[in-house]
Amino acid sequence: MNDNLHQLRCFGCGARISGMEARADFRCADCGDLYEVDYPGWARLGSPGHPSTDRPNPGALKWLWRERKCSSEALDQSGVWRFRELLPILDNFGHAVTLREGNTPLYALPRAARSLGMDQLFAKHQGMNPTGSFKDTGMTAALSVAHERGFEWVACASTGNTSAAMAAYAARAGMRSLVVIPEGNIAWGKLAQAMDYGAVTCQLKTDFDGCARVLTEIVRRAPICLLNSVNPYRLEGQKTPAFEIAETFDWNVPDHLIVPGGNLANSSALGKGFRELRALGLVSRLPKISVIQAAGANPLVRSFEASGARTMEPVEAHTRATAIRIGNPASWRKSARVIQETGGWCLDVSEAEIAMAKAELGAEGLGCEPASAVTLAGLKKLRAQSKVGATESVVLVLTGHTLKDADYTIEFHRGTLLSSEEAEGNEKQIASLRRNAQVVEATPEAVLAAMKGAAA
Ligand code: F0G
Repeated sequence: MNDNLHQLRCFGCGARISGMEARADFRCADCGDLYEVDYPGWARLGSPGHPSTDRPNPGALKWLWRERKCSSEALDQSGVWRFRELLPILDNFGHAVTLREGNTPLYALPRAARSLGMDQLFAKHQGMNPTGSFKDTGMTAALSVAHERGFEWVACASTGNTSAAMAAYAARAGMRSLVVIPEGNIAWGKLAQAMDYGAVTCQLKTDFDGCARVLTEIVRRAPICLLNSVNPYRLEGQKTPAFEIAETFDWNVPDHLIVPGGNLANSSALGKGFRELRALGLVSRLPKISVIQAAGANPLVRSFEASGARTMEPVEAHTRATAIRIGNPASWRKSARVIQETGGWCLDVSEAEIAMAKAELGAEGLGCEPASAVTLAGLKKLRAQSKVGATESVVLVLTGHTLKDADYTIEFHRGTLLSSEEAEGNEKQIASLRRNAQVVEATPEAVLAAMKGAAA
């Protein structure tokens, strides 16, 4: 590994180790906390006339990254490795395993903005990645490290998207992959992907947190590289959408970024990305970063309420947004720090609020997973509480593609998703958002009548 350039620093006690010294479970041997990848050379400023050769030059980087957009090299076409100067985690970038991830679109959301009385609302759609979720950006980074270190096997516990991404990248690299998922609790689209990409898929009779516990035991016993987000290299890839967003805003940042919270790695990674851009002089400030959880899977929200996020009690998680059905999130300390240092908020939203927000995004032509829709539902609450101003620029991070969980969408539009207690108070709005498919006689008159009915 490129130990000259990067080290692992414990987020809890600050202990530093080289990349090769990490234990199989990626936990600090002294305090048990998680590591962050750190690049000590960036802190060396050099002296006048003798700039440090380790510290990247902001102007040169902006130019180089833009030039690479026109390159036909696979590495340059990746929205992760295009920024490789800020993730020097490989000895040889030729070992990178890429599916041309990243470079995802930033869409304006004019209708949602209008109904919220806002000027500038955007969606960064990470569901437009090769396997349909934001996990690809982290997986290209961490799996490439595993590949370079000579592992034959990689493994993850997952609510579905991590496993889909891992299985795909492992297949590309000719590696074997083990997927451990909660039985009956992941969307079919995601399970189908793991099978299609050739993973050994084990459905365990437990939840995500139980799967993570079992897998931690397994990697301590067998030479398998753990690719859950406790692996700090995952976050190095997942920080790159922050670079893309800053680049799209011409090296400014939006006022506010809103991110779904499950295992809490994504918010941690995006915060790290913006923090590094600021430290290197590529942007001058941080956006507020807010994290939204489902009300039935809200351990970080509770932690803020109970102790200002000094301690976190695990919860038993329940939500139909299965991607974020996580009661004991691994990266909660990192995520809490990002929220606190940027001045963002942490709040939760109900099942009905998630379903309505998802349908509203769908009606703008931007489908997404239920877990992604918590961002719009959370923004509505933040607006109602006057925590987001009308002129602030806000980016919602949509994490997964709508086709990942088609069952959820169909049930919503059929009217079978929510119980009457869950829908209570929102019946009218839900009815106005539903677009059920109709069974119609095979005649032009009947189809035209159906159109007329819908227009009414
Ligand atoms: N959105 C989607 C679509 C996800 O799949 C996940 C996490 C999240 C949001 C939450 O991100 O965990 O970084 O806070 N899915 C994981 C998985 C846990 O196994 O696919 P987070």
